[in-house]
Amino acid sequence: MKNFYITTAIDYVNGSPHLGHAYEKVLTDVIARFRRLMGDNVYFLTGVDEHGQKVQQSAKKRGIAPQQFCDEVSEEFRALCKTLNISNNDFIRTTEERHKKVVRQLLQQLFDKGEIYKAEYKGFYSTRQEQFLQDKDRNPDGSWPELFGEVTEITESNYFFKLRQYQDWLVDHLKANENFVFPRYRQKQVLEFLSEPLNDLCISRPKERLEWGITLPFDENFVTYVWFDALVNYYTAVVDKPEFWPADFHVIGKDILVPPHAVYWPIMLKAAGLEPPKSLLAHGWWSINGSKMSKSTGNFVDAAEFAAKYGVDALRYFMIREMSVGQDSDFSLQQFLARYNGELANNLGNLVNRTLNMTNRFGGGVVPAVEAEVFGQPEQDLQALWTKTRDEVLALHEGFQFHIALERTFAFITATNAYIETRAPWKLGKSTDPKDQALLKTSLATMAEALRLGVSLLPAVMPDTTLKIHGVLGYTGGAVWKDELVWDGRLTGSKVAATAILFPRPQAEPAKQG
Ligand code: MSP
Repeated sequence: MKNFYITTAIDYVNGSPHLGHAYEKVLTDVIARFRRLMGDNVYFLTGVDEHGQKVQQSAKKRGIAPQQFCDEVSEEFRALCKTLNISNNDFIRTTEERHKKVVRQLLQQLFDKGEIYKAEYKGFYSTRQEQFLQDKDRNPDGSWPELFGEVTEITESNYFFKLRQYQDWLVDHLKANENFVFPRYRQKQVLEFLSEPLNDLCISRPKERLEWGITLPFDENFVTYVWFDALVNYYTAVVDKPEFWPADFHVIGKDILVPPHAVYWPIMLKAAGLEPPKSLLAHGWWSINGSKMSKSTGNFVDAAEFAAKYGVDALRYFMIREMSVGQDSDFSLQQFLARYNGELANNLGNLVNRTLNMTNRFGGGVVPAVEAEVFGQPEQDLQALWTKTRDEVLALHEGFQFHIALERTFAFITATNAYIETRAPWKLGKSTDPKDQALLKTSLATMAEALRLGVSLLPAVMPDTTLKIHGVLGYTGGAVWKDELVWDGRLTGSKVAATAILFPRPQAEPAKQG
């Protein structure tokens, strides 16, 4: 069994979870479930990032202690994972003792090796972004862009990590590992960033400025810079499971690729004598109704509420079908409902209902066997399409082209519905001609088998729906996924359910849409 370690970014707890957080978890879950179906031994980590200025400020605003604030908001993120049916093996919080211990050990080790030094630093500091700024960050007119908030010039002593001395190593590493970043074009962005000399990384914050962090093991007047703390979570979670190191994929948004994940993190690991991650997968960003997500303007989708209203699998399906991994996408209720009605209810839901109805009406509720002598062109065409679809869909999953994989799968569902029209079992059922009777049985068996197979391509994206549809066909999947993807007569004699409720018409207005 191959070990496969995959992580999401850990979310800041300064606000409640939103659609962007939900998408990242679902995307990572799809990959994790797919790898498990392929037989890998998967370890899937997600969690929350609890230290730093933003969290300290949010707690202050609420008038409660940062730890209490973190305890509350973290529960919302944990609950979201449950709601979305995320199959994570672990949920890490950076305020946990297990994590603080690892961060301190790593810092001490790097300090002892001379990778960290103390220096005086004078510069322009953005409180909002928690970072020192450089001249290249200024507007052409010399002012600071609004995103930095208030910018002040300060001088302070701090600890620095020797990033610069590993710059050449990282460039070589990227050149030798062309697939380090997915999508590939983003790797260029990393190399571009590395074409300028790197500054050493300031990894401390004086406690008078920021208290909410992990105290440096070698100087108690400072806490650790939040990114240096947060990135280490990936290592903390498997520190006693070395078989999972290095990580196969860190799934992150495009905004945190450069520099934290693609530059700081591999260099931190290299300096500590640890192997860098094998790959980073940077996904795009969701907008809502064409504009930036924002709680204050009400342009916001609460993923948990949405899932409660339309079903978790419908939301999972939409996000994975709509977004091409790496690109940005827009979320609108209109587009969601178009896919919900057109693809889920009218295509897949309809196929399930027709199959159950006709098997009950013309087969006494039991899937008949195919009569080989009437297994004609329409059956053969559908079977050939199945083989092609299956092979394509597996390959598309390997390449993270999940939106196309779903499109192909649903094209097969469409073809199965069309097959039913061609054979028109309701007409055959009226005939007493033995050939028509044989065709009737064959068509019932064929539609059931095609439905079983089509749905067998969906468990990574829609795990509950897959179980439900297989269930109404009287089918339980086997242990080896690939063996299930073979067209044969295994449903013969299966007792099907009377009906299935899969994608009901949504009732009232959706939750919070701007
Ligand atoms: N805490 C850091 C990550 C530390 S990882 C060691 C952080 N947190 S975050 O809450 O701001 O973002 C968490 C993830 O959600 C990031 O990968 C980010 O890209 C993603 N998203 C935030 N908004 C998003 C959208 N609108 N759309 C898609 N993903 C988005 O950054």
